[in-house]
Amino acid sequence: MTSAPRTAIVVVAAGSGTRLAAGAPKALVDLDGRTVLAHALEGVFAVRPMQVIVVAPAGHEPAVAGVLADADGGRAWPASVVTGGATRQLSVAAGLAAVDAAVEVVLVHDAARALTPSAQIDAVADAVTADAGVIPALAVIDTLKRVDGDAVVEAVDRSVLAAAQTPQGFPRAALDAAYARALEAGEEHTDDAALFAAAGGAVRRIPGDERAFKITTPADLERARMLLHPASVGLPVTPRIGVGTDVHAFGGGGDLWLAGLEWPGEQPLSGHSDGDAVAHAIVDALLGAAGLGDIGEHFGTAHPEYAGAHADVFLARTARMLADAGFAIGSVSVQFQGNRPRFSARRAEAEAVLSRALGGAAVSVTATTTDGLGFTGRGEGIAVTAVALVLPR
Ligand code: CTP
Ligand code: MG
Repeated sequence: MTSAPRTAIVVVAAGSGTRLAAGAPKALVDLDGRTVLAHALEGVFAVRPMQVIVVAPAGHEPAVAGVLADADGGRAWPASVVTGGATRQLSVAAGLAAVDAAVEVVLVHDAARALTPSAQIDAVADAVTADAGVIPALAVIDTLKRVDGDAVVEAVDRSVLAAAQTPQGFPRAALDAAYARALEAGEEHTDDAALFAAAGGAVRRIPGDERAFKITTPADLERARMLLHPASVGLPVTPRIGVGTDVHAFGGGGDLWLAGLEWPGEQPLSGHSDGDAVAHAIVDALLGAAGLGDIGEHFGTAHPEYAGAHADVFLARTARMLADAGFAIGSVSVQFQGNRPRFSARRAEAEAVLSRALGGAAVSVTATTTDGLGFTGRGEGIAVTAVALVLPR
């Protein structure tokens, strides 16, 4: 950082998560291999530079510091962990005490709103003015009733109501003063806007976002998981398919490598790497299905480490790239056109090698000739077409 940021965000994560009852503080509950807090911080670290203060449950500071260290994506923003209090309000107060002197705008954000889009954080920071706070809020959808026990007393006009979310943003000095006042008066407010308004501050609203919902109950946790990875909760996902082709001419020295196997005595194929056109077509089909570019981009001549590499290296690396991008490999079907080698006797062997390199995905390989037509029919080379089906996780 060249200069101290003028905005700070206090991310309160010190609650115990009683209603979630997941056996750990809510912010440290696992969503998809990453915690609720990790997801919340991903949204935070995607915005303009800010001072980031995470308020941790007492005794869990080291775990929270670890999540924070992983989340900053190498950004050198000022970031720290402080210990929270018995109520949300006390936790926010603990966070505010750690705000740098140069900060003029403070945002207060619930870690429990793990999927809040970073655009919402940016929009709140933009909308804060010297004389007014800002909250994101959604229109109320359900019909609301005033009740007395199990008796329905009357309908409430929902058009004058809005559901408040976070982050909530305020001019720093006025927020500090409002917190000091609430502490002195012994008042407990349900959110920062209420506390700010109780001190006479003006608060405006901007549109909220459905994805900024607060994870409170087990059903909310399920909803968050479903939004992140539909397949993980058994919802149907749309598979994606990709196609890959490759052609290599016969030429060069040594033995043929094709479909992950060495073929002693057969004429080799020329090309960067071992010329295994079957493997190359599979790589292109997989990368294409996942929208990850093509083989030239990831394994081309600019990558000398792949010169002479065999199918297992290419395919294992491709499988890792797909996994990192959130895709499981469903199946691969590949066909080559060529007069040689005679393939069927080694089909099972080739399929096993290719499948193993792809982490066990189903691979089928077929071969055909072209009745003497074209370059494959004249025995000049081999042409391959592969189709891959992948599944978003
Ligand atoms: N929070 C906090 N310190 C507290 C209580 C709450 O920092 N003493 C934080 C929570 O970590 C959460 C946010 O305030 O990010 C909103 O609170 P809530 O959803 O109520 O979380 P919990 O208090 O943890 O949940 P519960 O009320 O079910 O125990
Ligand atoms: Mg609570």
